[in-house]
Amino acid sequence: MSSLKVFIKSYGCQMNVYDATRMADALHAEGYAETTDQNAADLVVLNTCHIRERASEKVYSELGRVNELKLARAANGKATLIAVAGCVAQADGAEIIRRQPSVDIVIGTQSYHRFPEALKRVQEKSDERYDAKSGVVITDFGDEDKFVRLIPPTLEKTQSRGVTAFVTVQEGCDKFCTFCVVPYTRGIETSRPLMQIVQEIERLAEAGVREVTLLGQNVNAYHGSDQRRLETSLARLIEAIAAIPGIIRIRYMTSHPLDMGQDLIDAHRDVPALMPFVHLPVQSGSDRVLKAMNRKHNARDYLNVIERLRLARPDVAISSDFIVGFPGETQAEFEETLALIRNVEFSSAYSFKYSSRPGTSAAALVEQVEEAVKSERLLQLQELLEAQRRKINRATVGKTVDVLFEKSGRYEHQIIGKTPHMQAIYAEGSAGLIGSVQSVEVLEMGPNSFRGRIVGGAVS
Ligand code: 5AD
Ligand code: SF4
Repeated sequence: MSSLKVFIKSYGCQMNVYDATRMADALHAEGYAETTDQNAADLVVLNTCHIRERASEKVYSELGRVNELKLARAANGKATLIAVAGCVAQADGAEIIRRQPSVDIVIGTQSYHRFPEALKRVQEKSDERYDAKSGVVITDFGDEDKFVRLIPPTLEKTQSRGVTAFVTVQEGCDKFCTFCVVPYTRGIETSRPLMQIVQEIERLAEAGVREVTLLGQNVNAYHGSDQRRLETSLARLIEAIAAIPGIIRIRYMTSHPLDMGQDLIDAHRDVPALMPFVHLPVQSGSDRVLKAMNRKHNARDYLNVIERLRLARPDVAISSDFIVGFPGETQAEFEETLALIRNVEFSSAYSFKYSSRPGTSAAALVEQVEEAVKSERLLQLQELLEAQRRKINRATVGKTVDVLFEKSGRYEHQIIGKTPHMQAIYAEGSAGLIGSVQSVEVLEMGPNSFRGRIVGGAVS
């Protein structure tokens, strides 16, 4: 057995978390075991996010730190390879090595199956006279299907990853919201074939996974081909996954309001495994701003989707993303966003100050909103969202809910799980209940989780 170790650090969204597992599997086959100790790593992979300036810049400061580690290990006679993966790798490419010459590998989002090749090329270089400035850069989109080429995880490895799993089913985006880098970092919209996904989830279920979250930047635009090579939909994919023995919960994210088809909305009524929680970014409540963002929907369209969802599944919880301070956003337009929030009542949300991104069309807009105004708006928006979250959570206290237990808690005999609405909850119970759904009475609400008491046996 080889003693090589890899440390992977992921930033950004869940797709990066999923990619990290696939990279770990590819590297496992090259003799690298995963470690959580960065100091012990022969290979450090930073799996990066480019969505906002701050996320992107963080990579460079982190690389400075990793470089120190590389030097410290070199002083002890140990070599360390540094690889940058993810969306900054895709967007900045060789520029990363210009800014931090100790980086050995830059590998873009569509090239993870080529990690072994990148390692081999680095090896060959070090056999010659090693020139750090010419590290290996692989960022072409190519037309190979990385999912076919990536190595499936071993049963043992999957078992160690727990009862919930992310699975990318769709990647990239063709919507071109004017603020967003995703079309440039993840490429055009592509969907994996239905059977490829079903087989992956069957393996996960065999290894003990009970809940899957289907991932895509535009997941409800999923249109992969079925066994007859006909285009299918996210609703059909969800039905196929619901039929897999062992899978008891299905979630999906992130959706675009425009692709919220009636068959998907109906699935919320008809498929019991599909959880009543939808992450549906709206970004703004102002039609003028939505148009400038090229969102292709207005506030009324969004409210319409929410109404239809609630009709199909009255207890559905809605979560969203918001951007404040998009170029030219006036106070009145910002208040339209607050009005939309009051109208919908969100169970949770992510909100951000607009950040200008290179290459996007909004970056060319001149009317930037002042930083102080952005901060003030963000605060106001977050206060409102937080009040809604607490109100919804408070109403859950006293109810009995189904909880899928996921892991042990900090204390002995404590286990932690999630309600169908994605709320974290802990209760006293044996570790043997992890992986099962139990009826739990919600006793108390903390800042980020509930305390509950198991009142019933397995409900599925
Ligand atoms: N500035 C601020 N927030 C952004 N997002 C995407 N691009 C930007 C940007 N340039 C937010 C959106 C999106 C979430 C993933 O990140 O709200 O839904
Ligand atoms: Fe960040 Fe978007 Fe890339 Fe996810 S897809 S890592 S959010 S830039």
